[in-house]
Amino acid sequence: MSQKISLTRYLVEQQRVDGLIPSQLRLLLEVVARACKSISQAVNKGALGGVLGTAGSENVQGEVQKKLDIIANEVLIEANEWGGHLAAMASEEMDGIYLVPNRYPQGEYLLLFDPLDGSSNIDVNVSIGTIFSVLKKPEGDRGVEESDFLQPGSQQVAAGYCVYGPQTTLVLTVGDGVAMFTLDREQGSFVLTEENVRIPEDTKEFAINMSNMRHWDTPVKRYIDECLQGKEGPRAKDFNMRWIASMVADVHRIMTRGGIFMYPWDKREPHKPGKLRLMYEANPMGWLIEQAGGAATNGRQRILDIQPTQLHERVSVILGSKNEVERVTSYHTGL
Ligand code: AHG
Ligand code: MN
Ligand code: MN
Repeated sequence: MSQKISLTRYLVEQQRVDGLIPSQLRLLLEVVARACKSISQAVNKGALGGVLGTAGSENVQGEVQKKLDIIANEVLIEANEWGGHLAAMASEEMDGIYLVPNRYPQGEYLLLFDPLDGSSNIDVNVSIGTIFSVLKKPEGDRGVEESDFLQPGSQQVAAGYCVYGPQTTLVLTVGDGVAMFTLDREQGSFVLTEENVRIPEDTKEFAINMSNMRHWDTPVKRYIDECLQGKEGPRAKDFNMRWIASMVADVHRIMTRGGIFMYPWDKREPHKPGKLRLMYEANPMGWLIEQAGGAATNGRQRILDIQPTQLHERVSVILGSKNEVERVTSYHTGL
């Protein structure tokens, strides 16, 4: 790329040249990117900024909140509430939806986010991130309700994540493929560093928390067992394994070089469909992966086709290189 293209320019061109995004959505994405820059600063300060450690509270899902979970949540809310582009927000770290206060103009979009993904990696200086999803508020004059958020992932109008790692990278889709932007700290702006990201359909790399193996269901056990048999087994090739424990970082690796990521349903808490959250993690990541030529299912169904029934709904997640995801899914469905 000879000339540097900023995120701002990229979005203006998406709006003006391709007519892909309305101006309100462009503004929304710019604001989310600005919030991510600010979270990135806080992450980088680490112990110097007093941002490490737990906050001493729990979220609605009973998970202990880290200081950065709360800081990132506040940064996203404060950045987004006054711009006039949003009607309401929902977050992994808030019990209910957050309505844009009456003193600000109301927009037509709904923003959902996992403000800080990979919380267990904050204090150990391993990559973490922010994941976001944008929906349109259903038509009508009444105020926003929680049920307005319960739209299948196929209705998303934008989705993305920002990974805070050795580089800070923002990865975005508005339904026209996937683009990656790297934060240029001297300029203070995100610069386009990759367009039309494509995930290879085949892979030799899987990501799953192997310590849960004894709790898995038969199809997942079968798939991993076949991978582990390597060249001598039915797959006739050796596999490699990675598990970062930040979905954002595992997905980013898959976006970069392919692979399969799984956080499947397991027998530890059989009533729970999975660990990961449909609205803040699986839907945005599922759409990004599909937009890059990969696939995302819960083992039986395309993630994006799932009709949510609760804001904080959990789901089993299998995503990444298409042929591998289809294989694991076929082990579940028998098709
Ligand atoms: P979060 O930090 O937002 O709660 O998400 C953590 C998720 C996900 O990022 C990761 O893939 C998974 O939990 C790791 O779980 P284990 O610690 O069970 O491996
Ligand atoms: Mn998460
Ligand atoms: Mn989180």
